[in-house]
Amino acid sequence: MELRDRICVVTGGANGIGQALCRRFADEGARAVIVVDKDADGALATAEALGSRGTALTADVTVEADVEAVVERTEAEIGPIDLFASNAGILGFGGIEAPDTVWESVWSVNVLAHLYAARAMIPLMLGRGGGYLLSTASAAGLLSQPGDAPYSVTKHAAVALAEWLAITYGDLGIRVSCVCPMAVDTSMLLGVPGAAAERAGGPAGSDASRPEAQAAAVAGILSPARVADSVVAGIRDERFLILPHPAVATYEQRRAADRDRWLAGMRRLSRALAAGTRRVGSDAPPRAD
Ligand SMILES: NC(=O)c1ccc[n+]([C@@H]2O[C@H](COP(=O)([O-])OP(=O)(O)OC[C@H]3O[C@@H](n4cnc5c(N)ncnc54)[C@H](O)[C@@H]3O)[C@@H](O)[C@H]2O)c1
Repeated sequence: MELRDRICVVTGGANGIGQALCRRFADEGARAVIVVDKDADGALATAEALGSRGTALTADVTVEADVEAVVERTEAEIGPIDLFASNAGILGFGGIEAPDTVWESVWSVNVLAHLYAARAMIPLMLGRGGGYLLSTASAAGLLSQPGDAPYSVTKHAAVALAEWLAITYGDLGIRVSCVCPMAVDTSMLLGVPGAAAERAGGPAGSDASRPEAQAAAVAGILSPARVADSVVAGIRDERFLILPHPAVATYEQRRAADRDRWLAGMRRLSRALAAGTRRVGSDAPPRAD
């Protein structure tokens, strides 16, 4: 699908990857880009930078009524939504000891928000013969993220939901893409808003044992703009899986080909990250054996 003249909604549009998607969709000639975020000021700033194409809406995507209101207002005041990019997501931190409250909040943002978007959009899109759903999952949803069980589990669920939607509605005109990056230079990567750009260049000032830094150690850190480039190319091709870090395809193949060997490799990677012998931002792929 070409984005020219399209009406696009982007959740998590105030910052990071979502903000880059908003800018890129506008640059591609989208008729309107609706910047949705619970960060009202950030959403407004992103929308204002888009000029007449940008509209900001404040919403918590974990509240189904908020997602419904975004869709209703957009369709009533701007027009039929062509592309709904469900992008907002959060890290979890921790393993089995992470409290249920953490698991529940990560599940709500990383999975239920995608469900609410699909529930609100699919009947409308089916009624007009088609539409496009984009969800931002993660390479952690195809592989794993050492040190962050809630993130790994919920991102796998996000990929599974996107696949299920593509299987169920693909022949009815609903196109689905799922973007699965590894490390991207946003505040999520290093956990400090505004500090990512200074800190993403290497281990100085960053902590390689942090889970969000660990993805960076595998395949390098991309800018949000590079991710947006991949997304636009993937949407143009109507490709389900969008991999801004191409190495993820190789890692996924290795995982599928020999799960025990892949798990052993991941254990080695986790140990190297914990010992600090693997550098954040290294381009070297993990050993598969
Ligand atoms: N940065 C990375 O390394 C990386 C890697 C792979 C996948 N991702 C995924 O990309 C997506 C965007 O992440 P990012 O790196 O741009 O993060 P970010 O923290 O820079 O931006 C996330 C945005 O989502 C918003 N948000 C969070 N919870 C929300 C809620 N309940 N309702 C509405 N808005 C909410 C935040 O306010 C923020 O503006 C996420 O789904 C994330 O899991 C990020």
